[in-house]
Amino acid sequence: MTADPKSVEDAAVLLRAGQLCAFPTETVYGLGADATNADAVLSIYETKGRPRFNPLIIHCADLAMAETLAEFSPLARLLATLWPGPLTLVLPARPGNGLVDVATAGLDSVGIRIPDHPLALALLAKVGRPLAAPSANPSGKLSPTTAEQVRLGFAGAVPVLDGGPCQAGVESTIIRVEGDRLVQLRAGALARSEIERRLGVTVELAEQGEAITAPGMLASHYAPRALLRLNAEPRAGEAFLAFGPAPAFAGPMHNLSPSGDLHEAARNLFSMLHALDALGKAMIAVAPIPDTGLGEAINDRLQRAAAPRG
Ligand code: TXA
Ligand code: MG
Repeated sequence: MTADPKSVEDAAVLLRAGQLCAFPTETVYGLGADATNADAVLSIYETKGRPRFNPLIIHCADLAMAETLAEFSPLARLLATLWPGPLTLVLPARPGNGLVDVATAGLDSVGIRIPDHPLALALLAKVGRPLAAPSANPSGKLSPTTAEQVRLGFAGAVPVLDGGPCQAGVESTIIRVEGDRLVQLRAGALARSEIERRLGVTVELAEQGEAITAPGMLASHYAPRALLRLNAEPRAGEAFLAFGPAPAFAGPMHNLSPSGDLHEAARNLFSMLHALDALGKAMIAVAPIPDTGLGEAINDRLQRAAAPRG
């Protein structure tokens, strides 16, 4: 077992020394590494068992740090008014920004966000360097929304800064800024409709295949052990993930939101899947979730979790 950092200062010492440290964000726990240190970033891939190099989201303490990494057009700046928050912007990389190629997969663009979590922000400020941080789970497994899930996922081998349960529960929304176009590469915790409403912009959906460079887009990326049946009523012998008023069911059941609130459902999604998966049932039936607002991200994660595995 690795000793967990007792404070933000302890965690910052680990990260500045090139060690990994998991930390809380408002979306999910991230497996953090100094994004300017190639060995540190490589140990993210080793620890997660990621099959190949994917560009990682680079977390920044503030806009000043972000501006040293990427070129911000006026439109990018408008989107950045939603920071800190569960929004990742893919922007042209600034030459000589110090990020190592293994963090950006050698692309000339970079995915950046400022997380809305007091511990994450304090940690980034203390480290004083950008942190690469994919979700803190072994590759292909469910994203962790508590420190305990991180410990279980890596059998205690990764130090975790414990900040309690994550508020949003699904990963950030990823938007690529392309001239005057905004393209959503991954649905996430900030609903596309809310970005459009708050900023008066239009966010397009990525064409099929266009976002395949984004690893969150691998078909079966969020796989629990059990198989999933979506838009389903539960059958005897299954576990059931309900949403809204639940049917009478004698088997194990969790309800994402009895009142049908999509925010509550997103927050509960991974932890309830974790809990049902831990029961060892062969099948988890999942109730229909409306595809509006945050439902887009929830259904995206569920479809990936249900995808056939190779
Ligand atoms: O909520 C989140 O975003 C979490 C927390 C920890 O912040 N992080 C997260 O990171 O989900 P990760 O590494 O699991 O997801 C990275 C996603 C991938 O889908 C990746 O392709 C995309 O961001 N991405 C990063 N840089 C990109 C780029 N230059 N172009 C296209 N996609 C990029
Ligand atoms: Mg992930």
